[in-house]
Amino acid sequence: MLVFTDPPSMQASALSARSHGQTIGLVPTMGALHEGHLMLMREARPHVDILVVSVFVNPTQFGPHEDLDAYPRDYEGDRQLCEGEGVDWMFYPTPATMYPEGHRTVVRVEEWGGVLCGASRPTHFQGVTTVVAKLFQIVQPTAAYFGWKDAQQFLILRRMVADLNMPVQMVGVETVRESDGLAMSSRNAYLSGKERIEAPVLRRALIGARERALMDPTVTASELKRDIVAVIETESSAQVDYVEIVSMETLLPVSRLESGCLIALAAFFGKARLIDNIRIDSTSD
Ligand code: PAF
Repeated sequence: MLVFTDPPSMQASALSARSHGQTIGLVPTMGALHEGHLMLMREARPHVDILVVSVFVNPTQFGPHEDLDAYPRDYEGDRQLCEGEGVDWMFYPTPATMYPEGHRTVVRVEEWGGVLCGASRPTHFQGVTTVVAKLFQIVQPTAAYFGWKDAQQFLILRRMVADLNMPVQMVGVETVRESDGLAMSSRNAYLSGKERIEAPVLRRALIGARERALMDPTVTASELKRDIVAVIETESSAQVDYVEIVSMETLLPVSRLESGCLIALAAFFGKARLIDNIRIDSTSD
């Protein structure tokens, strides 16, 4: 596996591969790789000639009081995991090479970055779209792989790709979960023993809401949201940030749970802010 740290040399190799007709799959990550990331690599591997994993803790998607400095970093562990998955190239740039002095351009998907997680993290999604647009220029992927765990992120990036006519196939991969239902996340590392035991309540609350809606089609989105909050708050370390039910086409709230909807939530367990969601469609888990 080759490791590139410098955007121009990464881009030169990618352009050369593309000019020889090779396909490139990109799995963008912030490192601290876990089974969820490995699933993205396994999904991509058979479909592309060159598999690239980027590892970059992107400072522009962290708010001023968020966990940028504390965010877990493990270059050597990440390198070994990538090698084990048959990754061809790892892209491991520094903030100074991604955002050199004088950098001024941002990419923003209007409105969608201000709802759901964006309500409490107002600059987050602009940081994500900007860095992913840059990664797409540098790595020249034909396909890019993202987890449905970050559903809002995936929908916003898919909108960006469509709006800016980027020639990248966007592939969403199902959330990987621990055996008790907790969605895998690098932030699970922040949970204390008690918080880790309580955190799977997020999944139980989402499944409960979906079941209630299936049994009673008259139930409203407001009633379902109240149920979800009540279930989560049975765990003493949980503090709900938001629960929303939106259309995946518009990210606007809906009044009833129907096909094409997303129930998305975020909750704090101690200092860890965890997110989870459930999609209401024929392909979701
Ligand atoms: O999902 C992530 O890990 C990040 O938001 C991403 C897409 C790698 C951009 O920094």
